[in-house]
Amino acid sequence: MTTDPITSHLKETRRFEPSAEFAAQARVSSEVYAKMYTESVNDPESFWRRETSELVFRTPWTKTLSWTLPHAKWFEGATLNITESCLDRHLTTARRNKAAIIWEGELSGNTRTMTYAELHREVVLFADALKRHGVEKGDRVAIYMGMVPEVAVAMLACARIGAPHTVVFGGFAADALRDRIADCAAKVVITQDGGYRRGGVLRLKDVVDQALNQPQSASVQKCFVYRHLGEEVCPVAMKSGRDVWWHESVDPTATRRDPLTIVESEHPLFILYTSGSTGKPKGVLHTTAGYLAGVHVTSKYVFDLREEDLYWCTADVGWVTGHSYIVYGPLSNGATCFMYEGAPNYPDWGRFWRMIEKHRISILYTAPTAIRAFMRQGDEIVQKSDLSSLRLLGTVGEPINPEAWVWYHKLVGGGRCPIVDTWWQTETGSIMMTTLPGASASKPGSTGLPMFGVVPDVVTKDGKSVGANEGGFLVLRKPWPSMLRTVWGDDERFRRTYFSDVPDCYFTGDGARRDEDGYFWVVGRIDDVLNVAGHRIGTAEIESALVSHPAVAEAAAVGRPDDLKGQALVVFVTLRPGHTADSSLSAKLGDHVGKEIGKFAKPDAIRFTDGLPKTRSGKIMRRLLKDVAAGRESTGDTSTLEDLNVLAKLRSNEE
Ligand code: PRX
Repeated sequence: MTTDPITSHLKETRRFEPSAEFAAQARVSSEVYAKMYTESVNDPESFWRRETSELVFRTPWTKTLSWTLPHAKWFEGATLNITESCLDRHLTTARRNKAAIIWEGELSGNTRTMTYAELHREVVLFADALKRHGVEKGDRVAIYMGMVPEVAVAMLACARIGAPHTVVFGGFAADALRDRIADCAAKVVITQDGGYRRGGVLRLKDVVDQALNQPQSASVQKCFVYRHLGEEVCPVAMKSGRDVWWHESVDPTATRRDPLTIVESEHPLFILYTSGSTGKPKGVLHTTAGYLAGVHVTSKYVFDLREEDLYWCTADVGWVTGHSYIVYGPLSNGATCFMYEGAPNYPDWGRFWRMIEKHRISILYTAPTAIRAFMRQGDEIVQKSDLSSLRLLGTVGEPINPEAWVWYHKLVGGGRCPIVDTWWQTETGSIMMTTLPGASASKPGSTGLPMFGVVPDVVTKDGKSVGANEGGFLVLRKPWPSMLRTVWGDDERFRRTYFSDVPDCYFTGDGARRDEDGYFWVVGRIDDVLNVAGHRIGTAEIESALVSHPAVAEAAAVGRPDDLKGQALVVFVTLRPGHTADSSLSAKLGDHVGKEIGKFAKPDAIRFTDGLPKTRSGKIMRRLLKDVAAGRESTGDTSTLEDLNVLAKLRSNEE
C-alpha cells in the first residue's frame, strides 16, 4: 500500500432534506440519532441490551465485548439459535400468518407466498432431513442455488442445527464452486435442478456434478437437490448414495422432533467467500450473536421497516447483501421480503418497475450498477409504471455517482423517497454508514454518517486523522458486533489484510474523505487510486464527473503507465441512447472533466465501449481494464468476471 495522500477534488453541493412527511413518522430524528450514537459508542452494554431486547437469547450475555486486536468476541455467555429470532418469535404474534417471503418467478411471472408459519415449518423439516443425513453441529454446508424461497429455507435450516453455511452464488462456474467447497471442506451441498435466468435455463445441478467429480471435493458426502424446474425442463442425473431429492428427504412428521440446536454467541454462522484483487478468495467468517445484533438493528433503522412494508432487496442471496438484508436482518424484524428469481431485463428493462407496481413494493434496495443500467435505457421505461407505492430507496455496493443518485431520486422515487446510501462490506456483516432516513439530509454520492457503534475515520498511513475534506484511508477504529472474526483457515491472512496496514484499527481497503458536516465520501478502492500528474485521486471522482455529462451512462477510470507523466489517465465510457461515439464527443467529455475536476484530470484517452467488465455482483473490475489500457494480458483471477466477452471485445477494439 502506498503512503501518498489521496486528494479529493469533486465537490458535490446538492443537499436533499427528508420530506416533512417522512421526517414526521421516522423512527430516528437527528436528535435521537445523536443521542443513540453517543450511547452506542460510550455505553455499548446498555445500547445493545436494549436494542436486542426483542430477540431470543436462551441465556443472556455476561460480557459485551472482549477485544484483543484483531480478535473480537461479542456477547459472551449468551446462548441462542438465530432462527428463533427470525422465525419462532413471530409465531406467537399476528405475524404468524403474515407473508415472510413473496416470490416471483422469472419466466412465468408466477407468485409464491410463504408465511412465517410456513417458512418455520419448512425450515424445521429440512433441518431434520439434514440431520438425518449426517449433518452435525459445526459441519460446513455449501449452498449453490438460485433465487427461490428454498435458498432461504436451506440457510435457516443449516443455522437451526448449528451447521455453518457457505452460499456460493449460482452464477459461479464449477471450478469456483469446487475451490470454495474444498477450502471449507463442506460435508454437504444443497442445490436445485436449475433456475431461469434471462429466459434461459441455468443448469445448477450439472455444475455441482462437475465440481463434485473432482478430487478436491472429496469432503462432500451428500448432495440435496431441490426440484424447481422439473424433469421436463431440466432433467438431472442423480448419483446413487450421494444425491438426495429434497422433497423425498423431508418427513412431514418431523415438526414433532424439532432439531433446534442452541449454540454459543461466537458459534460460526456462515462463511462467505469474497475475492480480493489477488490470490484465492477469502472465506469471511461470521458468528452468531454479534451478526444477529448488527443486521437486526440496521435493518430496522436504516430501512425504517414497518409491518405493512413490502421490502425488496434486489441482491442475490449469494452475496453478503442477500444474507444480511434478504434473510437474517428483515426476518429478525418480521418483515415481508419480496424475492425475484431472474434478471432485471427479462423480458425487457421494464420488469422491475412492473413488479413494483404489481406487488405495491414500498422499499427498494439495489446497487449503483443496476441504477446506471436502467438510466441507460431511458426514462420512459420507468415512467410507464406506477411507482407510487415506494417510500424508501437504498443503494449499496459502490460509490453512487451523483447523477445516478439524482436520477434514482427523481425517476424512481418521484422526488419523495429518501435514499439510504449504505456503505459496508462482506467483512463488516452489516451497514456501517448511511444517510439515516428522517435523521439526516442526503448529499448525492455521500454515504452519510456512521451507524450505531461504528467509529470510522479517514487517516494517513500511520493512523493519524486527516482534516475535513482531505482524502485518506478509511478505517474503523473500534470493533463492532457483526465484524468478521477471521478468514476461514487463515488467521494470518486475516491479520495481514485488515489489521496490518494502519496501526490499531481495521483497514477497509477504501479511500475516503469526510466533509465539514462529518459526512463520508468513499472515493474508491485504494488499490485503484489514480496518480494523475502527481495528484492521487479516487476513481469515483473521475467517473462521477463523466457520468454527470448527459451522454454518459457509465464510466471506469484507470491509469496506464506513461514514460512522461508516470501514469496516463484512460477512461472507458458507455453512452446513453441517442449519442454517438466520435471524436467530437471525446473532446467534449475531456473538457467536461476538466471543468468538473480540474485540467490535470482531463483523460489522456477516452475509449467508448458497449459494456464494462464487472464482477458477478456488478462492481467494475478496474484491474482488468488497467491491463487492457496497458495492452497486457490479465494474469490475475478472472473467475469472478461476469461476462468474459466484454473483455475480449475491449481487447479486439484496442487502439
Ligand atoms: O469499496 C466499497 C464498496 O464495496 C466494497 C465492499 O464490497 P463487498 O464486500 O462486495 O460488499 C458489497 C455489499 C456490502 C467496499 O469496500 N462499497 C459498498 N457500498 C458502498 C461502497 N462504496 C461506496 N458507497 C457505498 N455505499
